[in-house]
Amino acid sequence: MLFSAQDWDELETSLRSCKKCPLAENRTNVVVGEGNRSAELMFVGEAPGADEDIQGRPFVGKAGQLLDKIFEVVGLDRKEVYITNTVKCRPPGNRVPNNQEMTACAPFLEMQIELVNPAALIALGSTALTWFLGKGYAITKARGKWYRWRYRFVFAVFHPSYLLRNPSRKKGSPKWYMWQDMLHLMEVYGRIKNGERIDSILKDYPERLG
Ligand code: URA
Repeated sequence: MLFSAQDWDELETSLRSCKKCPLAENRTNVVVGEGNRSAELMFVGEAPGADEDIQGRPFVGKAGQLLDKIFEVVGLDRKEVYITNTVKCRPPGNRVPNNQEMTACAPFLEMQIELVNPAALIALGSTALTWFLGKGYAITKARGKWYRWRYRFVFAVFHPSYLLRNPSRKKGSPKWYMWQDMLHLMEVYGRIKNGERIDSILKDYPERLG
């Protein structure tokens, strides 16, 4: 299916007036997402926090600053990828969005995925992972692996907030795993940019198929 700028406009207009769940009541801004609308990599986080709610942009607070640093270290330009969340409005006190909120917001994320049409989806942390795969996948086990979601591929990594709470860089620490996972992702991304298909690339990494 071919999409146009008008489809993005319609998505943004309906999001900005959305009252499908109670999160609408307390929001300052709807955080739609940002980045390259034709990205090959689409990062999906949990939900906007206080800074994101104020600025209307995803991942601009402490977790976002760490994400930027991770991107910089592995040589990924934030502008090259698309970044969004499972829900577009801030849950009070930054709690995890509940089922009702995630279900109400799901059509927006589904539409964004269709519009961007990325080669790979990257689930940042367990809420995004649950959004894609349902309950029953622990991020500590699923991270670093590729899963099928509909006819697409999802790669699971730790959420930057989890890394902020676990600052050790020792071998076997969450930060160490994040480093390994991002290096792998960059290897795959390099091949995607070279025109290879993701399903054939992933055949070279059978140990990473979840
Ligand atoms: N955490 C998230 O999951 N998303 C954001 O946009 C910011 C922090």
